[in-house]
This record gives sequence, C-alpha cells and structure tokens, in this order.
Amino acid sequence: MHTQSCVEIKNEWNIVQARQLGRELSKELGFQTVDQARITTAISELARNIYLYANDGIITVEPFNNMGKLGLKVVSSDKGPGIKDIRKAMEDGYTTSGGLGAGLPGVKRLMDEFKIHSQEGSGTEIVAIKWLR
Ligand SMILES: Nc1ncnc2c1ncn2[C@@H]1O[C@H](COP(=O)(O)OP(=O)(O)OP(=O)(O)O)[C@@H](O)[C@H]1O
Ligand SMILES: [Mg+2]
Repeated sequence: MHTQSCVEIKNEWNIVQARQLGRELSKELGFQTVDQARITTAISELARNIYLYANDGIITVEPFNNMGKLGLKVVSSDKGPGIKDIRKAMEDGYTTSGGLGAGLPGVKRLMDEFKIHSQEGSGTEIVAIKWLR
C-alpha cells in the first residue's frame, strides 16, 4: 500500500482529492494529527496554485526514506507559465492574483524540506518533505 500516488489537478474537486490522498498517506505513515493537518494544508496550497496559475498539473505524494529516516514527500509539477522571480514569490504577501501571497511561504514553513524549480515559460516543480517524528 506504500506506493506513490498522484492526482491530476484540473479542477477544484481535484484539489480536495489531493488533500484526501495526503491525509490518508500521512495517517498511514503514522504522522500525528497536527502534522497530518500541516501536510494536507501544504498540499492544498500547492494544488490551488497549480489550478490558478498553470491550469493543470500533478500532485504526487509518496513515502520517502533517507538512510532510515522516514518521511512523506509531496511533489507539485506543472507545465504552466513558471515563476519569473522565485525569491519574490517566496516572500510573505507577494501575489500576482490579488491573493494573500501566503501560499508558498506557508508551505515552506509547514514542511521540513522545500525546493522549488521554476523557469519562465516551462513550468514549476516544487518538492516538499515532512519527516516523521
Ligand atoms: N504553479 C505556479 N505556476 C506559476 N506561478 C505560480 C505558481 N505557484 C505560485 N505562483 C506565483 O507565485 C505567487 C505567490 O504564490 P502564493 O501561493 O505564495 O500566493 P498566492 O497564490 O498569490 O496567494 P494565496 O496562496 O495566499 O492565496 C503567485 O501569486 C503566482 O504569481
Ligand atoms: Mg497560492
């Protein structure tokens, strides 16, 4: 059952599905309720960004093992417009859509590892990991 699962994000219902997937896997891996909530919130923000800015993309959640250290890895990838200035996009309050600009910095705070790769015109990939404590 510990396999990778993914949800294609094309509509708002898919955002709910991605959340559910994160909830199930984090529970199964033994994360406490608070960390389950952190993970599902992070997934929600990443999926919402895909839906809003890239139209469609994929959220993948999978168990992750780094030399015996177990965690849950979330990957968000899309072939949307990409992010011109990643440093700015990571600032609290930076938004191009009249949002709160809290999504990406929030995901970084909620998760333990956070990496973002994005190129204007070719898409965005974000990898975030939460370690099991
Ligand atoms: N997948 C993506 N593709 C292209 N641009 C993105 C993507 N995700 C985020 N961005 C850009 O980064 C900015 C910051 O994203 P962030 O999620 O932090 O804030 P927001 O979506 O504007 O507002 P909030 O998430 O608080 O409602 C966005 O306004 C958008 O310009
Ligand atoms: Mg957002």
